Amino acid sequence: MRYNFDTCPVRKGTESVKWDLYPGTLPLWVADMDFVIAPEIKAALQRRLDHGVFGYELLPDNYFSVMDRWFSRRHGWKGISRETIVPTTGVIAAYSAAIKAMTVPGDKVIVMTPCYNAFFPAIRNNKCVQASCPLHYEGGLYTVDWEAFERLAAESRVLLLCNPHNPVGRVWTREELLRMADICLRNNVFVVSDEIHCELTYPGHDYTPWATLPEEYVLNSVTCFSPTKPFNLAGIQIANIYAASPEVLAKMDRAINDNECCDVNVFGATALQAAYGEGGPWLDALRDYLWHNARTVYCFLEDELPLVTAPPLEGTYLMWLDCRAYMKKWAGSAGVTEDGETGTSGAGFSEALGEHLRKKHGLVLSTGTIYGEAGEGFMRLNIACPRSTLLEGLSRLRDGLESFIGRGAN
Ligand SMILES: Cc1ncc(COP(=O)(O)O)c(C=O)c1O
Repeated sequence: MRYNFDTCPVRKGTESVKWDLYPGTLPLWVADMDFVIAPEIKAALQRRLDHGVFGYELLPDNYFSVMDRWFSRRHGWKGISRETIVPTTGVIAAYSAAIKAMTVPGDKVIVMTPCYNAFFPAIRNNKCVQASCPLHYEGGLYTVDWEAFERLAAESRVLLLCNPHNPVGRVWTREELLRMADICLRNNVFVVSDEIHCELTYPGHDYTPWATLPEEYVLNSVTCFSPTKPFNLAGIQIANIYAASPEVLAKMDRAINDNECCDVNVFGATALQAAYGEGGPWLDALRDYLWHNARTVYCFLEDELPLVTAPPLEGTYLMWLDCRAYMKKWAGSAGVTEDGETGTSGAGFSEALGEHLRKKHGLVLSTGTIYGEAGEGFMRLNIACPRSTLLEGLSRLRDGLESFIGRGAN
């Protein structure tokens, strides 16, 4: 293979959030990858660094045309240009400004829970009210609860969508998106689509950009996207808001300026152009590696942790582990957490398990409940690391679950 994902630089002691927030642990939580970036991006950043001057910069035409080429060729999404894009510092900044632009205080914003945890503060910070629409989980598959969605749409102003969905790993199909789009348009609900995970999809699950739906639905939306997640550039901070409607774009521009996050980092702009311009082969090799990592997790669960299951990973590098069989055992044995919380109702399981794994087994996963109440009984596992690291994490998870239940039963 042209790229090596099996060995990575040591990140410990580099002020990495993932590696240094909980020292001495194996961190498989926050969503960044341990892999070195594509050599083409590194070379472009090096060239920019070598210039030695980092004053304020304009965005060149290539910034927009490289995105247009990438998205039209790879995903059939046409129309990206200087006239349809507002650049900003990150996807959180992007969707937060979009909420600000399209709501007044007190408006309801629909989120399909469990959902990305930073959706919640963005809704609160814009003085809006969260309208949770828990996803339906049956037969190991997450789907939209259409009845609840219709009901909430009738009283809400914005849908904050995650496509593909973090943390449950769904890549929404065109049919599902069309149904959401139709309900939203009929109910005057504006759609803010966070598509930061869009490049990370697996065989049989193609990403459908919201912007490729029929025009009336696209005009009622913005798309927030960035190369930072797929190309492992999270700390470099760059993102874009796409709006097909000039009126909507003007509102986004106003909100981004009101929030003072309209100037992008010179390295972000350089990295974006190199990623979309030259990063394709690296990204495809990465997707293949991640797909094999996901297979490794499914095999491990089947062989060594049969009580833990995971829905099919259609997209993202975040696996959603269903540990509810252990939650039942824990509740049944009246498990008592170190904080003295009882497990008789199952409440507090994910949090207690997360703490146990971290303190006793040196493993950090993301606790299911940070993604909403619907995440109780689940843990999120980041598989974007060398396979050997992943296997070490899975062994710790197996041992940790056993000792957690053992401790509860004592
Ligand atoms: C769905 C989603 N949106 C946004 C972000 C963060 O985006 P940014 O770092 O560009 O603000 C993440 C990071 O994990 C994410 O998963």
